[in-house]
Amino acid sequence: MNTQSAAPTSKKPLRVLFVCLGNICRSPLAEVVIKEAANNHTLGHLFHFESAGTGDWHIGKGADTRSAAIASHYGLNLGQHKAQQITAKHIPNWDVFVAMDQANKRNLLAMGAHESQVLMMRSFEDEDTTLVADVPDPYYGGATGFEEAYQMLKDNADGLLGYLKGYKG
Ligand code: 4NP
Repeated sequence: MNTQSAAPTSKKPLRVLFVCLGNICRSPLAEVVIKEAANNHTLGHLFHFESAGTGDWHIGKGADTRSAAIASHYGLNLGQHKAQQITAKHIPNWDVFVAMDQANKRNLLAMGAHESQVLMMRSFEDEDTTLVADVPDPYYGGATGFEEAYQMLKDNADGLLGYLKGYKG
């Protein structure tokens, strides 16, 4: 009996989930920023992007108005966003998770995600990848935290896409 699995005949989009705590501030913004960058590089067809939170407080709600305002300021739209939660049963549905901070990463690993599947959002802005900073949670602060989060996402977008383009699992 031939036990070798067949070579894939068509390339399915890589399923990438951006993850934060509430899924109303950072990860929805990451989703639209990286989607736009992918489309600008005509790479959109290679990926399926969504976002989710590890917490359940905002399930079904729209994006935080401050995140929506920053998106809109930069020509992006968060009007359709509906917050969702990632739990252990959803882990097998995704190829790659992009965590906004270390707590998000720890939570994903505790849900059963493999270490190699969980990237830190800010891994791509610096040559020195040993110390990766968080995208700080802007929820309890003012508008500047959202602007800073946007800039961090922009600074990492092309590096993340380059990595995902070559991702072999
Ligand atoms: P996010 O921000 O994780 O970037 O969506 C937060 C949103 C809501 C809460 C915390 C962080 N909250 O505690 O409700």
